[in-house]
Amino acid sequence: MSVVDTAAPGSSPSESLASLAIEDLHVAFGGNRVLQGVDLQFTPGFNGLIGPNGAGKTTVFNVISGYVRRNEGSVLLNGEDIAPLSRTGRVKAGIGRTFQAPRLILDATVMENTLLGRHHLFRWGHLAELLLLPQQRREETEARQVCMDLLDRFGLADVAHEEAGALSLGSQKLVEVARALVADPTVVLLDEPAAGLGADDVTVLLRGLRQIQVERNLCVIIIEHDLQLVTSLCPKISVLHFGEIISEGSPEHVTTDPVVIEAYLGHGFEAEEDGEIHEVESPLSEHHHIDHVEEEGELTEMWTEDDDPQQEESS
Ligand SMILES: Nc1ncnc2c1ncn2[C@@H]1O[C@H](COP(=O)(O)OP(=O)(O)O)[C@@H](O)[C@H]1O
Ligand SMILES: [Mg+2]
Repeated sequence: MSVVDTAAPGSSPSESLASLAIEDLHVAFGGNRVLQGVDLQFTPGFNGLIGPNGAGKTTVFNVISGYVRRNEGSVLLNGEDIAPLSRTGRVKAGIGRTFQAPRLILDATVMENTLLGRHHLFRWGHLAELLLLPQQRREETEARQVCMDLLDRFGLADVAHEEAGALSLGSQKLVEVARALVADPTVVLLDEPAAGLGADDVTVLLRGLRQIQVERNLCVIIIEHDLQLVTSLCPKISVLHFGEIISEGSPEHVTTDPVVIEAYLGHGFEAEEDGEIHEVESPLSEHHHIDHVEEEGELTEMWTEDDDPQQEESS
């Protein structure tokens, strides 16, 4: 009947050929028309979604994962409209995501945070947990193994029992990726997973993602600011600008498309002589963090410079 029934946990992710389609999507926040008739098709492999800040990229993810309501249009998972599904229903249907600013429980351990991603797959409920029934313990042990395997692939096995809040922003973002993947998704939405990561962490991230994508034939949709990263990872890239798809195709096609170059110029990007665009300097650095700022009832993510306590110790 619904997507939940057709793609419930238990169907092996490796057998699935997930597809996600967005048709004529419109979203407005008050008078702010953020998405204006967006059509997108995603299939297994790496799909890039790029565009200048404020283009509406995160809003696309928020609609797919049920955090923002559409005004018009549809999101089809394997051909079925997922509008009736709750956020958890969408996770159960196979849609996983990470957030641009990691949303971890900072005083819980890395393992505990990761286990949360698997919770909806547990067949035995809290009563079994309280009674410490053997089935529940087996389930918990298995879940911990799945989590540890994922944490290990992202270089986090050694910190599995540390508090998430003790980790660098980069490592916290890797924990989010692991948490999304332990849910056995068929479609994974990654919102700027490499922003704020050091070069070593980016290498670990990409190696892990590539391996898991192949093993599970995952449909990965990645929003990424770093053009070099996205063009090396994604054979197909869609470019969003002011709520509309302005270009789509191979990395070569989109990075040399005059419409895209025009949209990016003046946003920290410039065109090279051969016509390719590249980043002048990343606006996202290790010395910034994301704040959620509410203005006139609208929630916006803003990068803010970190306080530097050392500067205050001048005596
Ligand atoms: N929950 C929200 N409420 C109100 N306005 C929002 C909300 N989310 C995003 N917006 C607005 O929508 C526009 C696009 O935002 P977003 O999708 O985050 O862009 P991007 O991820 O491409 O930088 C921005 O003007 C932003 O302020
Ligand atoms: Mg965003």
